[in-house]
Amino acid sequence: MKGIILAGGFGTRLYPMTTNVSKQLLPIYDKPMIYYSISTLMELKIREILIISSKNFIPIYKDIFKNFNNFGLKILFKEQKYPNGIAESFIIGKKFIGRDNVTLILGDNFFYGINYDKIDLTKLNKNFGAKIFTYKVNEPKNYGVISIKNKEYVSKIEEKPRNPKSNFVATGLYVYDNTVVKNVKMLKPSKRGELEISDLNNLYIKQKKLEAVFLNSGSVWLDAGTAQDLLKASHFVQTIQDRQKILIGSPEAIALKNGWITKSELKKIINKMPKNEYSKNLLEII
Ligand code: TTP
Repeated sequence: MKGIILAGGFGTRLYPMTTNVSKQLLPIYDKPMIYYSISTLMELKIREILIISSKNFIPIYKDIFKNFNNFGLKILFKEQKYPNGIAESFIIGKKFIGRDNVTLILGDNFFYGINYDKIDLTKLNKNFGAKIFTYKVNEPKNYGVISIKNKEYVSKIEEKPRNPKSNFVATGLYVYDNTVVKNVKMLKPSKRGELEISDLNNLYIKQKKLEAVFLNSGSVWLDAGTAQDLLKASHFVQTIQDRQKILIGSPEAIALKNGWITKSELKKIINKMPKNEYSKNLLEII
């Protein structure tokens, strides 16, 4: 299983914060936003990861992740020339995906409280070629809203509808089999000129190959696309971390938990970090 993090986009709603900064580099509390999405992929035990962003920011991402191969990760980078839509990931990532299945996460998505250890969430069940993770939200209008038949069957996904058919929306985490590379070629740009991820998912629905996993209400999904949501996510991380003395979205901590590095290797990594709360908390985890 390969992993892709999509970390480009316009970042219009976060202007002027995004004038010269990639949205996914902005902090959620004490870490760059992209730490949370790479952590989710690592929790899913994905070790080969492609980061897609715009040309200006690729050197910054390369710098941020320059030592991550020490965790047994292989991280590659590719440019998206223009924000042509989320589904373009599979055109840009074709060579990287090769013959494998692929999990895509949007770089501004935040997941917490998901039981990663219970089942292999990235495993596609028999007869299915795609898996989406859905979540109940109060304001579904800004998302891909799913229509549900017979309590669990997803019959359609509508991108940012005026009159949402349900409160269930597709989160920014998707698993596809290798046919995604072929299927994405069938898409036409939408009215807003983008290759829509909802159109790709609707294609799998038509083929009767899309499975929806309903995340339970005890889990947390946030996207940090607006100033309000960014602040809410920061408060959430601060509250849980302070209360429990843990680190949410720490790639180093997850690498240790996954057995990808030893305690002594992590100690060496921590010794090179500035002495601050983050490195202190990591030491405590050891
Ligand atoms: P959005 O939040 O829908 O778009 P955006 O980031 O451009 O923000 P805004 O609507 O405020 O202008 O995108 C979801 C995620 O996907 C986000 O992490 C950016 C990323 N993205 C790309 O990297 N390339 C794209 O072509 C698109 C459409 C999104």
